[in-house]
Amino acid sequence: MAHAVDLLYRALYRGVLARLPEPAAIALGQWGLRHLPLDHLPALRRADPRLRVSLGGVSLPNPLILSSMYYDPRILRRAMGLGFGAVTAKSITSEPRPGHPEPNLVRIETPEGPGLVNCNGFRNPGLEAYRRALAGLPHRVPLIVAAAGESAAEYARVVAGLEAFGDLVEINISSPNTRLVYAWSERPAELRDLFRAVRAVTAKPIIVKVSPDFREQNEAHVIPAALNAGIGIVNWGNTRRVEEPRLSQRAGGLSGPALFAATLDSVRRVVARFGADLEIIATGGIDAPDKARAVLDAGATACAYFTGFITRGPHLARSILDALVDARR
Ligand SMILES: Cc1cc2nc3c(=O)[nH]c(=O)nc-3n(C[C@H](O)[C@H](O)[C@H](O)COP(=O)(O)O)c2cc1C
Repeated sequence: MAHAVDLLYRALYRGVLARLPEPAAIALGQWGLRHLPLDHLPALRRADPRLRVSLGGVSLPNPLILSSMYYDPRILRRAMGLGFGAVTAKSITSEPRPGHPEPNLVRIETPEGPGLVNCNGFRNPGLEAYRRALAGLPHRVPLIVAAAGESAAEYARVVAGLEAFGDLVEINISSPNTRLVYAWSERPAELRDLFRAVRAVTAKPIIVKVSPDFREQNEAHVIPAALNAGIGIVNWGNTRRVEEPRLSQRAGGLSGPALFAATLDSVRRVVARFGADLEIIATGGIDAPDKARAVLDAGATACAYFTGFITRGPHLARSILDALVDARR
């Protein structure tokens, strides 16, 4: 059954999704996620006690996380049945945001394989509407809620408003598509205030999601400031900023396998530097079982992906979980 889903998705991706204009492909993909009961297929999951991990003290059935992108609770609910050990909701801001105009997402063929470039710009319904949306969502696996903002006060407001609905809370200081969010890594003093402010409003484990574009700042300031504030999980990381003339903003965040070599290298360096003080979620370019294994073997506690979910399909999680179990035999 799992194999059949894999073949079907490949045919759908190559034959339809990769050929449609991007907005139509997104609409079709999200329609499918909302309406097809894929989460009822046990073949897309694998439960095995050897896969269980603890992230910030929260028990995850396995170390695979769906990275932040979807905010529709119907999609998050389905995703929770697609093999992931945790699912991340989209970064929410205190007020609703329309995001950047289309074109805001394009496919890209890189030498490493298919990727995306987006300038989504935090299209989201805002804190109050999102609190209502999350209220009815059952947590089949842990939910990571995510906050973004332009001031420490905005992050604190969003975290305080969302934290009751999540098992962990992610602070996005790294999206390259909103100037003030992207700039956080270069403002170490304000970042310290931000970390203290969010730490003060929740007892839930906090994850700081960093940018792969600020490698040195992350190691020199961002991670030490997080640890100092009592924040012990880093998600490395977000998309990488690139020029992209096809997008409305002429630039966007690159995701997909072109990021992977740097992701693995960063995990190795951060593990060597911060050791057991820090838990790491490795994100960026994971789209195959051997890549997930490599980052976990390098010392990441968990690994996350989004682009692989689109380009490889819902079967990828099961393939990765099978490989992880085989490796533990
Ligand atoms: C269309 C799109 C929207 C995204 N929205 C968010 C977001 O709201 N918050 C966030 O932290 N990351 C967001 N990301 C980044 C992903 O969560 C992930 O960190 C990044 O794509 C790298 O992983 P990947 O190569 O597996 O996709 C988004 C990525 C894409 C492609």
